[in-house]
Amino acid sequence: MIILELSDKQKQIIEGIKTDVKRLTADDFSGHDYLHSERVMNTAIQLQQNEGGDLFLIIIAALLHDLDDKKLSPETYKEKQKARKILSAYDFVDDDIEAVIGIIDAVSYSGGKTPLTSEGKIVQDADRLDALGAIGIARCFAFGGSNSNPIYTVDDFNDRSENSNSSLMHFYNKLLRLASLMNTECGRSIALKRTLFIEHFLDELLSEIKCTDI
Ligand code: ADP
Ligand code: NI
Repeated sequence: MIILELSDKQKQIIEGIKTDVKRLTADDFSGHDYLHSERVMNTAIQLQQNEGGDLFLIIIAALLHDLDDKKLSPETYKEKQKARKILSAYDFVDDDIEAVIGIIDAVSYSGGKTPLTSEGKIVQDADRLDALGAIGIARCFAFGGSNSNPIYTVDDFNDRSENSNSSLMHFYNKLLRLASLMNTECGRSIALKRTLFIEHFLDELLSEIKCTDI
């Protein structure tokens, strides 16, 4: 990992925040555990090497981005209390707290926002990339299972409904659209490769469950 640009103090803060995120997400089995945040952080670092932006703020926002997610923590989503509490505990100055909260606020797909800063664009792309490829497939079914949703339903084949709660339809309703929404060149090229992998997976899945078209 290329973190030569970071000071020792910043590296210590990152390690401390990793421990906090591990503790706070220990009960998550929906694909939003610590390792999701760590992958988003690593992908965001990779994107930052091409796109620029403040590396430290990108890393912190990537690690904290799902703590106050609307689906996972609706009661803290608006004010982002969990992220703010951690940032205050590490003595971030107000401007940096607001910068990190601004990045996190724009990340969510359901929020429908397009980030204005390069840091926001990078963290949003990194989060979306973790919903694609092999890991994205694993997370989609993990999310569905942990929310008691079916893998697929018979109705999915009759009516490609936006309202279906099956994991299969989540690919069509969201995941296959993500590549076209990427902010960065580098993110888009990884997204296209990972989307192709999902398309192969769906072809195989549909053929195994005896449906050639959906
Ligand atoms: P976002 O903020 O865009 O929702 P997250 O990082 O919180 O992104 O996680 C989205 C992850 O949750 C993706 O991997 C996605 O596949 C999964 N997910 C969200 N909703 C569903 C759903 N209804 N069915 C299956 N997976 C879902
Ligand atoms: Ni996420």
